[in-house]
Amino acid sequence: MTCSSASEGSARPKFPLVVVLLGPPGCGKGTQAQLLKDHYKIAHISTGDLLREHIRKGSPLGKRAQEYMDLGKLVPDSLVFEILFERIGQEDCSSGYILDGFPRTVTQAETLKQRLPKEIIPLIINLKLDDSEIIERLTQRVTCGKCGAPYHLIFAPPQKPGICDRCGGMLIHRSDDTEAVISQRLKVYHEQTEPVVAFYKGLKLLHEVACNLPKEKVFLAIRGLVET
Ligand code: AP5
Repeated sequence: MTCSSASEGSARPKFPLVVVLLGPPGCGKGTQAQLLKDHYKIAHISTGDLLREHIRKGSPLGKRAQEYMDLGKLVPDSLVFEILFERIGQEDCSSGYILDGFPRTVTQAETLKQRLPKEIIPLIINLKLDDSEIIERLTQRVTCGKCGAPYHLIFAPPQKPGICDRCGGMLIHRSDDTEAVISQRLKVYHEQTEPVVAFYKGLKLLHEVACNLPKEKVFLAIRGLVET
């Protein structure tokens, strides 16, 4: 395991670049994935956004997923694999992609390992934040209903209230950002996703970045890892 400092990277990354962002709900995975996407021009794949898209469309998969998401539980692996591997096969992933919110179980991590071409070594980054800060971040979050971009009403507000800076979409509070559901999501994270951190530590692939800093400083630390 390595722990990065917030310094500029010095070398160009190798493409295809596959970055896996692990971390508890609300630690800033989506925020950092968006910055990585803009900087390195690779695809951002959020399994949460893909599932919410199915819910918006009212697809059978979306209806099944919603039952779990509304309760703060993990959606069954089979549904997640179906949407994830279809997405990874798309053209815009050929230079690489950022996985945000996947893997969340050891089974998902093992499946990703089996499915990735042998020559691709993913960069696994665990974003660390204490539970107490997570509740504050998520209860103050608004998200674009169209492109999924996250904002924070105090630390990262949109330029025009209620409107996404990136795409002009309407900003909404996610239905799973209530205190009760956030507590359940944290419980699920500690029980089912923390073992994924141990899985990658065992493979000596784990890097860690502290997220209790401004998002620009967190991004510099991540760039340092990508470009080492
Ligand atoms: P998902 O959509 O993945 O949600 P999550 O993991 O709970 O993470 P969030 O999107 O809530 O937070 P984030 O870490 O992206 O933080 P953000 O950047 O927004 O999953 C939702 C549900 O879908 C799951 O509960 C599950 O049911 C299902 N699901 C998804 N994937 C699954 C899978 N693989 N298997 C099974 N089920 C799955 O930031 C949060 C806030 O903090 C924002 O307001 C932001 O502006 C602010 N912020 C960010 N960085 C900083 C900073 N450095 N300083 C201050 N504020 C900051």
